[in-house]
Amino acid sequence: MEMQAKFQDKCVEILEECEQYDLLEKYEQATEEEKDSLAQQIVKLDFDFKGGLAEYCERARDLLNDSKMGVNPFGGFIPSVPTGINVEANSKEFHQLEAIGMSNMADACFVLVAGGLGERLGYSSIKVGLPLTLLDKELCYLKYYCEYIKAFESRVIVDLDEEEQKEFYIPLCIMTSGDTHEKTLALLQEKDNFGMKKDQITVVKQEKVPALIDNNANFSVIKGKLEIETKPHGHGDVHTLLHQHGVIQKWAKMEKRWVIFFQDTNALVFRALPSALGVSVRKDFDVNSICVPRKPGEAMGGIATLTNEAVNQKITINVEYNQLDPLLKASWNENGDVADKSGNSFFPGNSNIILIKVSTYLDTLDKTQGLIPEFVNPKYKDEEKEVFKSSTRLECMMQDFPKLLDKTSNVGFSCYERWISYSAVKNNIIDAAAKFDQGLSPECASTGEYSLFDCNARLLEMIGLNIEETNEEDLKDFQGIRIRDGAKIFLHPSFGVTLKEIREKITGENFISKKSILWLEGQETSIHDLHLDSTLVTSADSFEVGGEYNDQKYIEYVPLDPTEEGFDELDEVIKIRGFRLSVPEEFDDLNIISN
Ligand code: UTP
Repeated sequence: MEMQAKFQDKCVEILEECEQYDLLEKYEQATEEEKDSLAQQIVKLDFDFKGGLAEYCERARDLLNDSKMGVNPFGGFIPSVPTGINVEANSKEFHQLEAIGMSNMADACFVLVAGGLGERLGYSSIKVGLPLTLLDKELCYLKYYCEYIKAFESRVIVDLDEEEQKEFYIPLCIMTSGDTHEKTLALLQEKDNFGMKKDQITVVKQEKVPALIDNNANFSVIKGKLEIETKPHGHGDVHTLLHQHGVIQKWAKMEKRWVIFFQDTNALVFRALPSALGVSVRKDFDVNSICVPRKPGEAMGGIATLTNEAVNQKITINVEYNQLDPLLKASWNENGDVADKSGNSFFPGNSNIILIKVSTYLDTLDKTQGLIPEFVNPKYKDEEKEVFKSSTRLECMMQDFPKLLDKTSNVGFSCYERWISYSAVKNNIIDAAAKFDQGLSPECASTGEYSLFDCNARLLEMIGLNIEETNEEDLKDFQGIRIRDGAKIFLHPSFGVTLKEIREKITGENFISKKSILWLEGQETSIHDLHLDSTLVTSADSFEVGGEYNDQKYIEYVPLDPTEEGFDELDEVIKIRGFRLSVPEEFDDLNIISN
């Protein structure tokens, strides 16, 4: 009883500090039971939010006012082209950078931001639990990331003595949220942490923040209940959490030097990571963003250097595309976001994979607690900007970390072609098809799967493999997303983590027909004089594979028709792709998802 009274008193105190007078009125009229439950929620929200709810409301009022007045967040800043390197796959520089990156990989640690709700994808479970390809039901994104980290470890461990090898690991921290936490933990437990060491994985959970219903930052109350509606605060929370939970302090003690932030469904980027780490080391970048070329005006944030002499500030940062063009027009080029000689914008596209130097990171978090400046993005009903269409909240973004750095920090980018560095699974098939029709990247489950095959095929072609070309007849239509259906090559992380390593394992004259499937797995596996017109799956303990496989036993990717009988009964991971596999009986023992 005494405890409940204390909670209630604290709740009233917090609501008064927050100037939540409408809610206080409702609270006064509520039953004891309702009061208790709201009090618990308010006290917890106040505790979870760094700085407390009063600070949250104060900042919200300021930002909502700026939004109403149309204040430009970059007012006073002059943009210029940022410093960075365009890394061309298989170039001499690419190989040099990969070598530098791998000789520093022992000092790396990884952070996966996996707290996103995935509303646009509409998948009923967590995105990191999605299988990368229907060819292997066990290989979900999270497993693939763990396999990659283990593959990096097995390459760098050879430089350590026996005692060091036992202790050594490359750590991974996963940020979850209320929407993904339990399921992520359950997946890790069920799969025994995917073979990672006991202390190797840390999970930190981000909390939600109160949703706001008007410019006065009044909390949104769920209809029919005395409960505050809450919403995610954005992936920028990762910086506060790594500091709050002592994760980054622990990594600094372990003498780790680089922390690599990556996203829930961009598997491709791991092919670019060794060389991107090489860029960080060579350029001594405090922050290095992995970028992709973007067309002028393309709906993707661009990295720009912004200088404001009046306040002695200079930052290199992601600028959202709708803010970039007016900013450039005002003080860089009267035509705004124009093309360079290659036809791309001078300001590369941010893929939100970021490498940060641990020493800079820890110093900055010690000073700032990792509190990233927030923004607010209300959708207004009226011209006066007084009424919201739906509740809003303050948000913060991981890529805004450079805002916490001082002017002398060394921030730059490494730019890669998309085929080797960027393909996320974000959109449901209907929205993805609409994007496809507009010539935009669909970023959905089918393109996610095919982009892996495409990347691996291109890498193998670069090192001399002969892969049969596709043509217009090979175009398949997956509910409006049209993709050329060629050879499907999967290079498991254990097979090779650098292009040099892969090149050394593939010797002789090799040919793969466009209907073939080739799955290469295992550090000892190699290919010599292979002629493949069939399906060939190697396992972790395979050795040299070669010779003729001409029996034309193909696993076919068959477009789905949603009006077809039995469609509704199909597994969700098949439905979101828009294709299913037709599998010859002899492959029944593979881990294929086929219905
Ligand atoms: P996305 O932009 O894909 O957003 O997040 P989302 O929230 O996952 O999906 P939608 O917008 O609801 O459709 C980019 C990355 O940031 C993580 C996501 O898990 C993804 O890896 N994220 C996003 C967080 O960790 N926390 C958040 O609050 C939001």
